[in-house]
Amino acid sequence: MTRKLVAGNWKMHGTKADLSQIAALATAHPAPRIDILICPPATLLAQAAGLAADSAVMIGAQDCHAAASGAHTGDISAPMLADAGAGAVILGHSERREHHHENNELVAEKARAAHAAGLIAVICLGETLAQREAAQTLEVIAAQLHASVPDGSTATNTVIAYEPVWAIGTGLTPTDAQIAEVHGLIRSLLAERLGGAAATALRLLYGGSVKPANAAGIFAIADVDGALVGGASLKAEDFSPIIMTL
Ligand code: G3P
Repeated sequence: MTRKLVAGNWKMHGTKADLSQIAALATAHPAPRIDILICPPATLLAQAAGLAADSAVMIGAQDCHAAASGAHTGDISAPMLADAGAGAVILGHSERREHHHENNELVAEKARAAHAAGLIAVICLGETLAQREAAQTLEVIAAQLHASVPDGSTATNTVIAYEPVWAIGTGLTPTDAQIAEVHGLIRSLLAERLGGAAATALRLLYGGSVKPANAAGIFAIADVDGALVGGASLKAEDFSPIIMTL
């Protein structure tokens, strides 16, 4: 059975002083039953990877450029992330889709670059509140999945995170049935795309206001293989209980 995964997205939070949180996690979970991923800002990647080396904590990045190198001021390529010690990269987060105008096609290109660099692509999908209220959730997720997940994706090199935009940082979460419906859809569409075995093994994370208090309920939902956690991943004392829940 595929190992579950709990991932932390620090977003634009954290300075060198916060590396102690990663050290604390590594110490607290020497042999976890699940996979643990922390994605700090790029400035901390190399140090975080050094700290987490020889531990059960994997370090990941929050974005990459689709090219391997070139004249792209301010950007960071997937091979550079791998060189810094990252093992994964979050792609297509709704904050990048919204604020950096990233579309599905660009996310797929980035995912291809991540795969080529040997990184796990954590590809994010999610509907806005307006789309949910207009009963468009399933078609939005299907379209995002279809166009953001490139050919060549496997259960080993790809993780899908369902993050309803309206649940991110708001304290709101979908009902269990709403999460199950979307995760079930993703699983069945992946089965058509990749075949049943790969679709079953590919991890589907839920993200959006996951906290120690609601983690157990969310992890009990069908087709939820872990979580992508924002705010509650910043402190080991909040993140650890979520890890322990799985
Ligand atoms: O990528 C994780 C994220 O968008 C969820 O954030 O703070 O609601 O857990 P948060």
